[in-house]
Amino acid sequence: ENLTALIQAIPKAELHLHIEGTFEPELIFALAERNNIPLKYAGVEALRKAYEFKNLQEFLDIYYQGADVLLHEQDFYDLTMAYLNRCRQENIVHTELFFDPQTHTHRGVALKTVVSGIQKALDDAREQWGITSFLIPNFLRHLSEEDAISTFKECLPFRDYFAGFGLDSSELGHPPTKFERVFRMVREEGFRVVVHAGEEGPAQNIWDSLNLLHAERIDHGVRSIDDPELLKELAKRQTPLTVCPLSNLKLKVVDDLKDHPLKKLLNAGIMATVNSDDPAYFGGYLNQNFRETAEALKLSKEEILKLAKNSFKASFLSEHEKERWI
Ligand code: HPA
Ligand code: ZN
Repeated sequence: ENLTALIQAIPKAELHLHIEGTFEPELIFALAERNNIPLKYAGVEALRKAYEFKNLQEFLDIYYQGADVLLHEQDFYDLTMAYLNRCRQENIVHTELFFDPQTHTHRGVALKTVVSGIQKALDDAREQWGITSFLIPNFLRHLSEEDAISTFKECLPFRDYFAGFGLDSSELGHPPTKFERVFRMVREEGFRVVVHAGEEGPAQNIWDSLNLLHAERIDHGVRSIDDPELLKELAKRQTPLTVCPLSNLKLKVVDDLKDHPLKKLLNAGIMATVNSDDPAYFGGYLNQNFRETAEALKLSKEEILKLAKNSFKASFLSEHEKERWI
């Protein structure tokens, strides 16, 4: 109970959050009705029951279906505002949100519709509640690099809205080496680089994300635990890992939260953070990730405070802005 109050009370940043992954079944049904889109589930409960995943791909298949009911700017606004309300409740004072442009543009939804809806919600939350935020488009790695490059070019007219670019979706079969050219373009245009790596894929994907894509942060990165040399390098460089414990549990990256490597990563001197990834699908927002992990790994008060501090250190806030929270 003590730790629950502490976790709630400390200001936190969230650095690994897919806005399409905050789409709660109730809102999916409400927007499907508003947009006259039939769903193949009988109702909210039937949809929620389908959230049983053996691996990342089974999750992705259902997550892309959910996103299909997002059509209008107001839909993206409502989705984002629901998450930001959650931030306010959980004392998340800064958030760096991912979205998947291709999931929407490939269905004929204009990028401007997506970006405007999300951005208006971010502006309102900043004004009303002082929550700061950055938006980070992610390329879908199961699609071609050519598709990522044309998506990047489509993003450039909105460049002021974006802090950086990332890479997500199916890791197995789609290694970082497939995306060297597009991330060179991303860096040449002055954007930050984050990459999902070492979630289901091997530690080598983390090496390649660092050395070939020049990732400044690794999303997940838990497979680094298999490679002592890599652990040393991550600790030396202080490259942040945005770890998502309940996601790892739900997608069977770990069999039990007690086996989660988070504490070992901290003990190895790595800049690890805690995040919720796709909370509507994985059964817990940020504070629940903190609570369940703290309990399973018997994290100390000091370790919890360190994780919260790391969330700001690892953020893309300026050094001056970080000082406010650290
Ligand atoms: N991994 C890969 N792709 C994703 C994820 C993730 O955790 N969440 C949403 N798309
Ligand atoms: Zn993710």
